Amino acid sequence: MKEIQRILVIGAGVMGHGIALVCARCGFMTDLVDMDKKYLDNALSQIDRFLHGSVERKKMSEYEAGETRARISMTTELQEVAGQADLVIEAIIEEQEVKSGLFKQLDGLCEPSVIFASNTSQLSITELGRSSGRPDRFVGMHWFNPPALMKLIEIPRGMETSEETVETIVALAERLGKEPMVCKDSPGFVVSRILNVWYNEAMGLLDEGAAGVEEIDRAIRDGGGFRMGPLQLRDLVGLDTALLITDSLYQRLGNEKFRPCQCLRDRVAAGHYGRKTGKGFYEYKGK
Ligand code: NAI
Repeated sequence: MKEIQRILVIGAGVMGHGIALVCARCGFMTDLVDMDKKYLDNALSQIDRFLHGSVERKKMSEYEAGETRARISMTTELQEVAGQADLVIEAIIEEQEVKSGLFKQLDGLCEPSVIFASNTSQLSITELGRSSGRPDRFVGMHWFNPPALMKLIEIPRGMETSEETVETIVALAERLGKEPMVCKDSPGFVVSRILNVWYNEAMGLLDEGAAGVEEIDRAIRDGGGFRMGPLQLRDLVGLDTALLITDSLYQRLGNEKFRPCQCLRDRVAAGHYGRKTGKGFYEYKGK
């Protein structure tokens, strides 16, 4: 397998821009692709803001920030950059068919030895691997939000994922300063499976009128010892993505515990997706 020097990150939304930033900071040439230029523009300003803030807080030298930025290229033209990639990390919308379509396309564009890693929160790695035409070189690489700060990377392995592929991604995660955890490919893996029940319980309480948004989060922070409450966390993830994740877990597991709550559906229907749109369970200034 070729040494990884150039990483292609696809999807420049909440997760993709952060993943690209971590890869570039750790010395990899990084191509960030999105089908929509608006997301690339937003990614660029978020990356610049992070680098600028890190220099101001003396977490990074100006030289390191400049080098990191210089390693990131952005484009909407996947076919222009896919052929140079040594590894692909996919972070597009959480929809099985859309991801499958992308992996089929990528199989025709990338070198045969290239590993495809999906940042899916809960979809079947085995099924996505099958659509990629290279199931042995396909694996999950589930990052957490925000990628620059969160340590864990879950690595769910599909039925056909090879040992070499797993070892390569574990080594890469370590080089990126993260803590890899290999797990089985089951719906939601470990983290999404547990957290989605917790989120749903909190939203169920809101639907029942048992407590308000701030009370629920405060109870969990001050009584449960968590850094953030469940509704704050949902706003950080993005309520549109949150609904896709919970609904898919509900369909896949057939368990009422995962049935999306009305307060989530209503906000998504209204276009209130949380921090990314400036309004969700909370309102955010300066969006
Ligand atoms: P997002 O909605 O913020 O961004 C998705 C991006 O993908 C958008 O910019 C969209 O234009 C782009 N896109 C969609 N189809 C595309 C295609 N065919 N080619 C190129 N770009 C395409 O979504 P987010 O939150 O970044 O989620 C992405 C993935 O990461 C999902 O699978 C999600 O489950 C997963 N994830 C999300 C987390 C979060 O906290 N938001 C945490 C961990 C995983």
